[in-house]
Amino acid sequence: MSLAGKVALVTGGSRGIGFAIAHALVTRGASVAISGTNASRLDEAARALGAAAEGTEVLGVAADVRDPAAVDRLVARVVERFGGLDALVNNAGVGRFGPVAELSIDDWQTVIGTNLSGVFYCCRAALPHMRRKGAGWIVNISSLAGKNPFPDGAAYCASKAALNAFSEALMQEVRHDGVRVAYVLPGSVSTEFGGSARQRADWKLQPEDVAEAVVDLMAHPSRSLPSRVELRPARPPKK
Ligand SMILES: NC(=O)c1ccc[n+]([C@@H]2O[C@H](COP(=O)([O-])OP(=O)(O)OC[C@H]3O[C@@H](n4cnc5c(N)ncnc54)[C@H](OP(=O)(O)O)[C@@H]3O)[C@@H](O)[C@H]2O)c1
Repeated sequence: MSLAGKVALVTGGSRGIGFAIAHALVTRGASVAISGTNASRLDEAARALGAAAEGTEVLGVAADVRDPAAVDRLVARVVERFGGLDALVNNAGVGRFGPVAELSIDDWQTVIGTNLSGVFYCCRAALPHMRRKGAGWIVNISSLAGKNPFPDGAAYCASKAALNAFSEALMQEVRHDGVRVAYVLPGSVSTEFGGSARQRADWKLQPEDVAEAVVDLMAHPSRSLPSRVELRPARPPKK
């Protein structure tokens, strides 16, 4: 599938799953913008992505998705640079884990602010541009944690469960405008997510597996709308 002529924004595209999604999009010919909060890591990632697909431009924009004004500026910058926005991948996400009684207010607000409110701000800023074209893709990277809550994961699981509901509602709202909303629920993926407590392991999904699911969604015939994808490691350790 060629995405030549398409413009995509991947939040949290500087590493992990977001970087793999940006790589999959740029190597299929899309013009890609990535965002994150760490500007130097973002520049490095944008350079690496640009080198992976000669002739395509990758724009790195530092923007905290928890800040609605920064998100508005991010989307405006992408539209100004590339002339529109065809695909938004809401991937930026954080995990703070621990018992509810010990979770700080900052932990709670960071998780909900990034994983849920950040997605709302990005969709809100992107939708007018997609509606104007009568077409677009919004793919939200959720988690199986949103349907399978676990102890010490209250903030994270709640953020992803709410993201699932948000995605379903939005999908029903904007499909009549030609905007296709889907959400992907990966199981354990081998990244730096959540800090050192979550180790890399051979049995886990790789970021590229999630990226494959995202580009498959975009390649799907326009008559039908796959709106929710659950993606599991095929051979996790037996319990
Ligand atoms: N890894 C897993 O096992 C797993 C499983 C299921 C779902 N997921 C979901 O997949 C997504 C990506 O996870 P990952 O494993 O790739 O994580 P990761 O390696 O920690 O990468 C997270 C990305 O999000 C960015 N980010 C974090 N906070 C941000 C903010 N406030 N504003 C803008 N960007 C921000 C980070 O950049 P900066 O550090 O520069 O801000 C980074 O680019 C998340 O939504 C996560 O919940 C992960």
